[in-house]
Amino acid sequence: MNIAVRYCSRSGNTKAAAEAIAEELGAKALSVDDPAALTGEPVDLLIVGGALYAYGIDERLKAYLSSLTKDSAKQACRSTRWTL
Ligand SMILES: Cc1cc2nc3c(=O)[nH]c(=O)nc-3n(C[C@H](O)[C@H](O)[C@H](O)COP(=O)(O)O)c2cc1C
Repeated sequence: MNIAVRYCSRSGNTKAAAEAIAEELGAKALSVDDPAALTGEPVDLLIVGGALYAYGIDERLKAYLSSLTKDSAKQACRSTRWTL
């Protein structure tokens, strides 16, 4: 299965989580800032992680998500989390 892990991280928490997930799945985690994050072949599973900042997501993550099409991945998993 072709798996891609992408993340948007300001202070490193989401990056660490994405890298742990990618390692477990035998995939590579790329920041949405990385040009290669946008130009990959369609994948079977796309995992995208990002955090909440003032109840919203980072503009770079919004741009990345907007760049995706229904053909970018057969399945997609996006996660944000609530942090106290
Ligand atoms: C300026 C700022 C605003 C935040 N706003 C929220 C928020 O609205 N909701 C939330 O659950 N966490 C919020 N957080 C917490 C971050 O989502 C949390 O620390 C997250 O792990 C940061 O991920 P990153 O290290 O990948 O950037 C905020 C953090 C910062 C610095």
